Amino acid sequence: MIAAENVYPRPGRLSWHEAAALPLAGLTAWRALFSRARVQPGETVLVIGIGGGVATFAMHLAKAAGCKVVVTSSSDEKLAKAAALGADVGVNYATAGDEWAAAVKEANGGGVDVVIDSVGSTWAGSVDSCAPGGRVVVFGGTGGAKVEMMVRPMTLGQVSLLGTTMGSPMEFGQLLAAVEAQSWVPVIDSVRPLADAAAAHEREEAGLHFGKLVLECA
Ligand SMILES: NC(=O)c1ccc[n+]([C@@H]2O[C@H](COP(=O)([O-])OP(=O)(O)OC[C@H]3O[C@@H](n4cnc5c(N)ncnc54)[C@H](OP(=O)(O)O)[C@@H]3O)[C@@H](O)[C@H]2O)c1
Repeated sequence: MIAAENVYPRPGRLSWHEAAALPLAGLTAWRALFSRARVQPGETVLVIGIGGGVATFAMHLAKAAGCKVVVTSSSDEKLAKAAALGADVGVNYATAGDEWAAAVKEANGGGVDVVIDSVGSTWAGSVDSCAPGGRVVVFGGTGGAKVEMMVRPMTLGQVSLLGTTMGSPMEFGQLLAAVEAQSWVPVIDSVRPLADAAAAHEREEAGLHFGKLVLECA
């Protein structure tokens, strides 16, 4: 049973599959960008690991808000897909190795204003990627539950580290209104029957996906 207050109309321009991809990942990206980072038009937003579900929503929402978007990925193919969807700058963190934050700054022509970090183990690089006064929003630990990092880049750079989790009903309403008014659609990696959930998890765990994996009930 789902409480009536938790049921919302499907945004009319989205298919059922696209709407199914939206709630958790879209809401998490919305709150991270607008409630926590308070991102402004004209700012530069770095999205870490663009293959991820939340990351693809963050890219679309930041572009629609008038931001420049920089993305990182382990895959040149995913970077090309992100560019086709509107990402302005792409950096391959696998080939850049420990220098990925420097590569971001070089490719972007300077530090970024906001970082959307779902990986956790990347916090130090996210801080290093910032311009003075940058904001790093964190909500995931894909890369590990423990982080070790230097203190000085954070203090000298006046960087803010902002935690976030999902979002409120009010923020979900704001997201749905924005989706209705904007033209992008959720990035769907694949759609499978529910019985093939294990295969979807295997694809995600192998890092092969780009965007959301949708499961369909017959
Ligand atoms: N707190 C909340 O409310 C909330 C809500 C949703 C999700 N989460 C958390 O957020 C994280 C992401 O979830 P998701 O479903 O959006 O993502 P996902 O689909 O699991 O994608 C993970 C992506 O992270 C990227 N990645 C992995 N290791 C990386 C590294 N060392 N450096 C840079 N990027 C790396 C990869 O991008 P590439 O393939 O492009 O290399 C990978 O595709 C998870 O930890 C999840 O539990 C939290």
